[in-house]
Amino acid sequence: MIKTVEPHTPLQYIMGKEKFFGLDFMVNEHVLIPRPETEVLVDMVIELLRGPQSAVHSPRILDLCTGSGNIAISLMVRLNSPSMPSKAKGRVEALTKTNSCCKMVASDISQNALEIARSNARLNGVSDDISFIKSDLFKDISGEFDFIISNPPYIAWYEFETLQKEVLKEPMLALDGGLDGLDFYRRIFLEAPRYLKHGGYCVVEIGFGQLPAIKDIVEQKSRDSSLRGANEVSDEAISLKAGLLRPSGARNDGIHKRKGFEILKVIPDQYGIDRVVVAQWIN
Ligand SMILES: C[S@@+](CC[C@H](N)C(=O)[O-])C[C@H]1O[C@@H](n2cnc3c(N)ncnc32)[C@H](O)[C@@H]1O
Repeated sequence: MIKTVEPHTPLQYIMGKEKFFGLDFMVNEHVLIPRPETEVLVDMVIELLRGPQSAVHSPRILDLCTGSGNIAISLMVRLNSPSMPSKAKGRVEALTKTNSCCKMVASDISQNALEIARSNARLNGVSDDISFIKSDLFKDISGEFDFIISNPPYIAWYEFETLQKEVLKEPMLALDGGLDGLDFYRRIFLEAPRYLKHGGYCVVEIGFGQLPAIKDIVEQKSRDSSLRGANEVSDEAISLKAGLLRPSGARNDGIHKRKGFEILKVIPDQYGIDRVVVAQWIN
């Protein structure tokens, strides 16, 4: 039977699949086609968990805006499986026990996307390791996490007219980041502190040229969130909450880390574009 295909339909939607991190993922018009640059985020989380300074054992990870599940699934295949599926062997080396029993929650607002993500988890043998939750960002999420990771929608409205016609075939829900493309970062960095453990990481993919604005959001919102509910307090109390002062009489142990998010790393993608931001939450 010959099927007609609309002009500019991406080949991946016609074939129904795409490779990511050496693994196979099913895709359809309900999910963003996984991009190679997003592998930078997966590599970074693995490095943070495996690096010499990592003190996180049995990490709890929340993947917001999971889409096809590519990020969450790649991480679980890499971190939890005793052996790799043979297809991915070239990409992924042997596992250590260090981060075994990683717990992953993956969420998306789209039920259709979650269905694809669940199928992809089965396809890659990690469906028992990931809880999939339908949620508008944090709305239906509970618990505390060592990592909050996300590749949220980040296209600004003015950029839509410059996008390739193939990209416009991808779900608007996966692309639309609001007027300036930054809506999701504002929400994530405002709400993440309620869900992050002390010293936990927020790792996000960002769009071309967004780094300066993201830095402002991370710094400003980390402060705002720690000040939430403190409308009627003195200047000293505000400074204390923002981590700018030590409470009078507090022990001086010589080390005082400012409460809030600190950007630890910005990682470029394969084209040299700033692509992933790692921020650590100190409370
Ligand atoms: C840029 S895509 C990323 C998909 C996948 N993580 C990836 O890297 O390819 C963004 C995803 O965010 C989801 N999304 C949009 N608005 C959301 C919201 N308010 N809460 C949760 N997920 C949302 C979309 O359905 C889409 O799957």
